[in-house]
Amino acid sequence: MNIRCNCKTDESEEQRKKKMAESQQTVYEPSDAQYALYYWIHLKDVKNDDEIVKQIVRSCAQIDHTAQRVDDPTDLKVGVGFGKQFLEQITKIMQEKGLGTNFMPNLKAPEYTDWKLKQEIVLPSTGGDIFVHAKGNNVGTLYEFQHLFFNTLPEQSVDVAKTNITRGFTYQNHRDISGYMDGIANPLTTEERRNAAVVANTGGSFVVTQKWEHLMNVIQVERPDNDTVAIQDLWIGRKRENGRLIENMPRTSHVKLMRQVQERNQQIVRQSLPYTEESGRTGLFFLAYANNIQVFEEMFEAMTQETGDMLFLMSTNTSGTYWYFPGLMELKNLHINI
Ligand code: HEM
Repeated sequence: MNIRCNCKTDESEEQRKKKMAESQQTVYEPSDAQYALYYWIHLKDVKNDDEIVKQIVRSCAQIDHTAQRVDDPTDLKVGVGFGKQFLEQITKIMQEKGLGTNFMPNLKAPEYTDWKLKQEIVLPSTGGDIFVHAKGNNVGTLYEFQHLFFNTLPEQSVDVAKTNITRGFTYQNHRDISGYMDGIANPLTTEERRNAAVVANTGGSFVVTQKWEHLMNVIQVERPDNDTVAIQDLWIGRKRENGRLIENMPRTSHVKLMRQVQERNQQIVRQSLPYTEESGRTGLFFLAYANNIQVFEEMFEAMTQETGDMLFLMSTNTSGTYWYFPGLMELKNLHINI
């Protein structure tokens, strides 16, 4: 007879939780923030200058501290991640100091490549060195934080022309700007979100960011006729009106493709928001956290198979890359030791 002792299961669950290293504030904790800052930084050619790299890393490792310097830090949550080349530079410096195991032990800097659909690049790899994700309920505070953070970086180190700042906002109670509810199938509980997003032994997380520009003339979000909505429901796989799943949705509808990956692999924690720019461009800033890169790779592969994800009929991806957001202990180690 197979008798299971509940107390033992509880104990090991408790131990497992204790063993999980702590993560940065933006990674998995549920948040009701109305706005986000997505600060996608390209550095000038300073990457081979170890002294500048160390200064930049120290600024990033202190990001929490910088956030506390705003006039009113209530509700402000911040996190920072590094791109492939920059991660390799940090790892090299730490290894030279004999401290290689203090940073990304057994983890590789994630490599993002272009994804093509029928010979055409549809998910371009655009690189980047530092990514700051901040969430809050006050646009002014997010600006204030962005400004303070920029000033902690060594002078002239940022390539301002290539750097992109996107300000995300919640729209119609968490709908995408196309009118579709977004984030419905995200992991719900704090524990589910943490399990999906966090690398247990480091508290770190892998992140993908992509900027999507919606084809608003196709979407006709303001006054769509019923036929238009019915067709777009099939592209997404859920009803625009209420988010319900479409029965027998097409093989290439967005939700069908993504569900298949999540069922086979695992869930991801999406934290995307709509944005709009003075040029009139508008769309979704896609950001997701996961404890491995493979799940993202499978999603992009699914999106670019055969005729492609029908999402491409309503939106164009203009930039993308992967980041690693170190765990809190890793950041602390970097600050002290680099
Ligand atoms: C223009 C860009 C995108 C838009 C407008 C969009 C929109 C949506 C919508 C409306 C849903 C259904 C509601 C929900 O569960 O959240 C959804 C689901 C989902 N999307 Fe996207 N999405 C975009 C890009 C992406 C990308 C790039 C990925 C993957 C890397 C992705 C992964 C997912 C996943 C995993 C689900 C949940 C599927 C499920 O289990 O039901 N999405 N998306």
